[in-house]
Amino acid sequence: CKVALFKGGVSAERDVSLASGTACAKALREAGYDVTEIDVGKDISLLIKQLQDLAPAVVFNALHGRWGEDGCVQGLLELLGIPYTHSGVLSSALAMHKERTKTMVSQVGVRVPESKTIQASILAKGDPLPRPYVIKPLSEGSSVGVHIVFQGDNHVAMTRKELGFDGAIMVERYIPGRELTVAVMGDKPLAVTELVPKQGFYSYEAKYTEGKTEHIIPAKVPAEIYEEALESALKAHQVLGCSGVSRSDFRYDDTPEGDGKLYYLETNTQPGMTDLSLVPEQAKYLGMSFPELCAWMVEDALR
Ligand code: DAL
Ligand code: MG
Repeated sequence: CKVALFKGGVSAERDVSLASGTACAKALREAGYDVTEIDVGKDISLLIKQLQDLAPAVVFNALHGRWGEDGCVQGLLELLGIPYTHSGVLSSALAMHKERTKTMVSQVGVRVPESKTIQASILAKGDPLPRPYVIKPLSEGSSVGVHIVFQGDNHVAMTRKELGFDGAIMVERYIPGRELTVAVMGDKPLAVTELVPKQGFYSYEAKYTEGKTEHIIPAKVPAEIYEEALESALKAHQVLGCSGVSRSDFRYDDTPEGDGKLYYLETNTQPGMTDLSLVPEQAKYLGMSFPELCAWMVEDALR
């Protein structure tokens, strides 16, 4: 079966996508697929030509972020009539918007931290929420552009870059405690992993540098929290209308002064597939190899 594998792209997560794509191409070849890797750039006419020449049965989408994860490339593939892995146009667009995602997911009874969307320039006028709070770009991944503002921080200095763009950003109540994540594959949540960064928060650097974050699988949290995380990830996947594999991220406030509750943060419709990534790790925990996981994704896209 001829597979065109998209990697790279033009988003801030280009390097992550190159790593995801290279790992998935290797895994798919091991599983017996005929894979052509396409480094997707800005030239969409070139991409269309490459696809017309290749005539693949399916596209394995290993892109992350803008254009690759937000419904744009999905729309192009719909127009060209080529099946593709992961979520479709609407789910991708919804899940890429952190505020819209939370609105949808909270409607099915999943707890989310309070947040609001503001223009970045508002930050210069003072704190938009009581501290501590998190500043997030509305539509980025891998913690690109994320800042946590604690007491004593100079939030204006921290966000100088964002102030320069003055686009819309999300500010969200910071949930102290622990970071959890759950992959969903089809209609099945896989497992709960706890991420314990050695320093600071689960930032871009902590995500992609070997040894900077400990992954604990299965997460050592109370059984009811474990179950709630599995169920909430499945509810999010379903209400957003995701397909194939997605991964939802959570915070669990188990601090002495906290409320002991689980909070949903977001769903990634194009979760990382690098060697350090969480979805392959959860699949492996359940006895599924990386090649088997990638093969499932291709076959699911063709169903
Ligand atoms: N946005 C990155 C790739 C992730 O969620 O894994
Ligand atoms: Mg994300």
